[in-house]
Amino acid sequence: MSSRYAVILAAGQGTRMKSKLYKVLHRVCGRAMVDHVLTQVEAAGLDQIVTIVGHGAEAVESLLGERSEYAFQEQQLGTGHAVLQTEERLGDKEGMTLIVSGDTPLLTAKTFEKLFAYHQAKGAKATILTAKADDPTGYGRIIRNDLGIVEKIVEQKDASREEAAVTEINTGVYCFDNQTLFNALHQVTNNNAQGEYYLTDVIEIIKAAGGIVAAYQMPDFSESLGVNDRVALAKATQIMQQRINEAHMRNGVTLVDPATTHIDIDVKIAADTIVEGEVTIKGHTEIGSDCYIGAHSELIDAKLHDGVHVTSSTIEEAEMMNGSDIGPNSHLRPKAIIGEQVHVGNFCEIKNATIGARTKIGHLTYVGDATLGEDINVGCAVVFVNYDGVQKFHTTVGDHSFIGSNSNLIAPLKLEDHSFVAAGSTITDDVPEHAMAIARARQVNKNDYWQKLPLAHDQNWL
Ligand code: UD1
Ligand code: CA
Repeated sequence: MSSRYAVILAAGQGTRMKSKLYKVLHRVCGRAMVDHVLTQVEAAGLDQIVTIVGHGAEAVESLLGERSEYAFQEQQLGTGHAVLQTEERLGDKEGMTLIVSGDTPLLTAKTFEKLFAYHQAKGAKATILTAKADDPTGYGRIIRNDLGIVEKIVEQKDASREEAAVTEINTGVYCFDNQTLFNALHQVTNNNAQGEYYLTDVIEIIKAAGGIVAAYQMPDFSESLGVNDRVALAKATQIMQQRINEAHMRNGVTLVDPATTHIDIDVKIAADTIVEGEVTIKGHTEIGSDCYIGAHSELIDAKLHDGVHVTSSTIEEAEMMNGSDIGPNSHLRPKAIIGEQVHVGNFCEIKNATIGARTKIGHLTYVGDATLGEDINVGCAVVFVNYDGVQKFHTTVGDHSFIGSNSNLIAPLKLEDHSFVAAGSTITDDVPEHAMAIARARQVNKNDYWQKLPLAHDQNWL
């Protein structure tokens, strides 16, 4: 098989995005657009990949790292000029070159494979990936002659009224005979409406030199969607989301209302888990089997083992073991590790803390920087006081302890196994095993206090 190379165009600023962030770094379902493109290009199994960077070069390179080589385009003089910047790396090579834009995140490796196969079957020097668009606005149009043979690509801004009416569009993806491509690129001029060196002009140039130009029309236009503004970004996200959700459903995950369920591309969910609507699952979250994720939950880089029950809660960079549950309205923050069968109820916040199996933290509690053992009962509104305004301190609570409601545990602190804290205590000293700590003012009853109130003698006031 002849060698296959790929060029990814990613040097443009993306003015139409009206953003500080470079266009190809905008995310679709949790991954930058250019990363989506590279991932699919990689899956097509190529010998060499070169990404053209310019605007945001450093950011793009640090994101993609060694997965790609880079060529730098100092000034964005057009897509043709951009590809020419790879000449040093690819110019003299023999084989086929795939060109893809960094702003078409929905294209798949399968489509690239089909394009390569079609290109070879046709013995072409250039093959354009095209699609039929309901609304071709903004895309280059594929101009064919009476016999249906491709003549050229005309950009929207250079198109006559007749040409603009054509609905077959250039997806911005091509397969070229590599050396033919670079020869043609040297002949491209910037004599057009935008004063740019268009890559699309090589088609006419290759034809004029007698090379066969083919066009492979893909069946699904939406896959070729190019993202130039935020309207298209939302559209791409919607399509990608549908793909992701359908894959999960086919894998045995119940999505009760897929239209309102937002799952990033790198999320993993095992079979027989149920996800209600209005749920957002981001980053590299992993969810086991037989879990339940209730409406209005947000999971970010979370890890849930099997049979975990979440009710409208936020879980970020935290882990929940088998059979644990949380919510409604609780928040697990980074490094919260919730043990097996642990119950975290409502309005709780847990951060940088390990909670042992079967421990219960039912209501209105903050646990920060702590290690809790097994079978502990934490009452209502307990505060692990971990911060003195400068430093953070740790609290350890032993197995089978009982922390009464409305207690403050002022760290650093160690409560041994089977310790008992009376409700309303502010604990500042360690508690030994089997001891009860009580730290609150004793109750005083002021008898006949009522009689001292002036109003008490008023017949109308009781
Ligand atoms: C381009 C095609 C158009 C096609 C459309 C498909 C040309 C002239 N037009 O138009 O026929 O229908 O894609 O989506 O090629 N870039 C650079 N350097 C530059 C200019 C652009 O790297 O100097 C990069 C951009 O970052 C982007 C890609 O090339 O990733 C395409 O550029 P863009 O300006 O979006 O081209 P379109 O107007 O969409
Ligand atoms: Ca574009």
